[in-house]
Amino acid sequence: MLSVKQLRVSYDEVPALMNVSLEVHEGELVALVGSNGAGKSTFLRAVAGLMKLDEGEITFMGESLVGLPAFQVVRRGIALVPEGRRLFARMSVYENLLAGATIQKDPQAREKSLAEVYEMFPLLKERANQRAGTLSGGEQQMLAIGRALMSRPRLLMLDEPSLGLMPLLVDSILEILQRLNQERNMTILLVEQNVREALEIAHRGYVIQSGRIVMEGKGKELLASDLIRRAYLGI
Ligand SMILES: Nc1ncnc2c1ncn2[C@@H]1O[C@H](COP(=O)(O)OP(=O)(O)OP(=O)(O)O)[C@@H](O)[C@H]1O
Ligand SMILES: [Mg+2]
Repeated sequence: MLSVKQLRVSYDEVPALMNVSLEVHEGELVALVGSNGAGKSTFLRAVAGLMKLDEGEITFMGESLVGLPAFQVVRRGIALVPEGRRLFARMSVYENLLAGATIQKDPQAREKSLAEVYEMFPLLKERANQRAGTLSGGEQQMLAIGRALMSRPRLLMLDEPSLGLMPLLVDSILEILQRLNQERNMTILLVEQNVREALEIAHRGYVIQSGRIVMEGKGKELLASDLIRRAYLGI
């Protein structure tokens, strides 16, 4: 579904990604894990059409995304839940959700998306009129995910959705993603620093270090590997 080949991306001529190749197949939940500054956000931003590529190829559903502006990438069916959520704090939950549906001009289709998001996150319906900035951290993350779903993506990409949440909420957010994948067949590319939790729910994973993919494999295999155990799990 998503195929990235030999991607190279730089900031002011300093490379942040080198020779990065990654695939996400339809129906998969894939995790991209790594430490601070490894290049995870840069990778998602590149796929989302927010970075200029030095080299490489990005194709989605068989078509190249290279050179497309971000809104065109959204139209092709890729939604990004950005790092730090980026909600409109002073706007209501409902208004934030609608902001995720700007590519949908048909009001009926918008209503349908909204009903689906409310079904998935009943809490957002209960709090539809509450200002987003007054939601708890976990609720804000649900809203950020709900907003991304409003564009009816085929591929949902999330940048550290568990950041800043207490452990119990980390688990519940990741559980939501797993359900979204299993029950609604949503294809997911999950970027995480919570390496163990992410690899536990992922079909496959990639490990990124200093802008390069150093390992890939099934989630469970990576969890059992020496590299992961030593570098990320402290075992
Ligand atoms: N706007 C920018 N200008 C210059 N360098 C940047 C910029 N954004 C990121 N970088 C650099 O690119 C590299 C990769 O950063 P990136 O944000 O992709 O890492 P990350 O894996 O998402 O880290 P984190 O887990 O801390 O979010 C880092 O060395 C970072 O300093
Ligand atoms: Mg990041």
